[in-house]
Amino acid sequence: MSTQDQLQFPDGFLWGAATAAYQIEGAPDADGKGPSIWDTFSHTPGKVWHSETGDVACDSYHRYPEDIALLQRLGAGAYRFSLSWPRIQPDGRGAPNQKGLDHYRRLVDALLEKGITPVVTLYHWDLPQALQDKGGWASRDIAEIFADFAAIAGEALGDRVHRWITLNEPWVVECIGYRIGVHAPGVTDSAQATAATHHLLLAHGRATAALRAASPSPAQVGITLNLGVVRPATPEAADLAEEWDARQNGVFLGPLLRGEYPGRLSAEYSPAKVPGLVRDGDFGVIREPIDFLGVNFYAPNYVGPDGVDGVDGVMVQPDGMPVTAMGWLIDPSAIYELMVRLRDEAPGLPLYITENGSAWYDYVTQDGAVNDYERIDYLHGHLAALHQAIADGVDLRGYFAWSLMDNFEWAEGYSKRFGLAFVDFGTQRRILKRSGEFYASVARANALPPRELRGRRGTVRGVTLAAFNASPEDEAIAVMLGCCASRRFARAMAAGRPYPSLDAVQAAIETTFSSMTWDDVVEAMAAHPRIGARADGQSAAEQAGVGDASRAALAAGNAGYEQRFGHVFLICATGLSGEQMLAALRARLDNDEATERAVAARELRKITALRAEKALAG
Ligand code: FCB
Repeated sequence: MSTQDQLQFPDGFLWGAATAAYQIEGAPDADGKGPSIWDTFSHTPGKVWHSETGDVACDSYHRYPEDIALLQRLGAGAYRFSLSWPRIQPDGRGAPNQKGLDHYRRLVDALLEKGITPVVTLYHWDLPQALQDKGGWASRDIAEIFADFAAIAGEALGDRVHRWITLNEPWVVECIGYRIGVHAPGVTDSAQATAATHHLLLAHGRATAALRAASPSPAQVGITLNLGVVRPATPEAADLAEEWDARQNGVFLGPLLRGEYPGRLSAEYSPAKVPGLVRDGDFGVIREPIDFLGVNFYAPNYVGPDGVDGVDGVMVQPDGMPVTAMGWLIDPSAIYELMVRLRDEAPGLPLYITENGSAWYDYVTQDGAVNDYERIDYLHGHLAALHQAIADGVDLRGYFAWSLMDNFEWAEGYSKRFGLAFVDFGTQRRILKRSGEFYASVARANALPPRELRGRRGTVRGVTLAAFNASPEDEAIAVMLGCCASRRFARAMAAGRPYPSLDAVQAAIETTFSSMTWDDVVEAMAAHPRIGARADGQSAAEQAGVGDASRAALAAGNAGYEQRFGHVFLICATGLSGEQMLAALRARLDNDEATERAVAARELRKITALRAEKALAG
């Protein structure tokens, strides 16, 4: 390949990978660690998918040398990880727990030894539970308490860590944690959420100053925001899109860059409109100068016009756009748009992409590989868009892939894999995915090669498509694998050419499987070039992390389990005949449709209730 075909990144561009403490560390009470809100939340039944927890996760507390070896294989120049606050201050206050600090000293030293720059996030969502018991982010004291923690971290690690991020995604904390309660601490109270917004910003400002003051060597400090690209699905929704933009972007960028909250927001979202919340001098604290802005970006959002009295709007998924396993849209033009916006809105402020990546239905083939071409495609598209942004004057200094390895994806548990390395959670084996090899080639060359899978975008509509583009038998196998476990997904794919209609897929399933035994399936899969590796049911299950405990769960009739690994594991574990498999699949598809109907009905009820509420208030 000639170097001319490559997209060269600026000299010194930092290539890294990111993780967060609760998502990877495990060891929830090792060496004096106190409980965090995520320990509490994940142990509360029904909060996390299949009640999974971060108790073990990737066991990185013990296995960090393996993680560093992975970083080396990725050619990463930097590693973004977070400190677990309750490891360092078990109750969130007072004298530090030296054993907790020692862990991070060891980690940092091991990184530096390999020439990898540590980029440390102080807060990636695992608040000490003791602080939540006193009000958490909804209480103003937290700003000072967080600054004390920042000073402890700066003093202990500042001789060897020079790049810091105060907070990760404060919008997710306030909105998902305090407003809609899908994340820890699971609060659903908009007054608390709006208070949290302001206190997070205040805490950021205080921590920035405290960290700089405490660090024995100069500290570069920034904050990471998950800024949105909110697009109107139809022209009538333009105003709604602006409203959402203010709630997610303006509410943080405004105070940080200009010392003000967006005027258009109501008291439900704007701290400035809540009496007594914003005090004199607060904006001065919040505007403590930062050295860079970290941006996490995954997908654009579309807002539909079906709002309640023109206020709320609904997030919509435009038909036919490709999505990841998270259901997040894939559109690299959005990251470009965001970068250019920041170039104009925050001139002179260096930017880093501190997270970007995608989840797919990854699996290990029989020869031990993870062929995640879809992730490569996503990466390629986003890196090309960022390259263009740099060419257009955006001061982007580095890129951190989310994530170094598969991990605990918050409320989604282990059902979503974002890693450049596959983690077999049963054995903790890490396997560099094909996307990891691709990323290493980019990092080492500091350049993006031409797209290998040219022409796939637009024809590839998700992970299953390679299989779907094949014979009906392959399609059926892919369905059995659960890659397109939901009927909605199958329907979406059926809408696009050249893929077969849902009926055709189902017909193929019927003819293929009704007459097959499990052995036939195994044989067919063994012969399959792309997914044949699933042939050996038992060991394939092993590879994907289905250990004894999981098998026991299956035996106990944990029917939803197959969502995680696909129908094939359900079948493996239960040893169904072909006919039974077909019945199970049919039931599953029907069940999906019922779920969809239930979700739609629930949404409708919500909108009706809101309308009634507004009518009453008006
Ligand atoms: C971001 C989080 C990160 C990870 C990715 C998928 O919002 O910061 O921890 O969960 O999403």
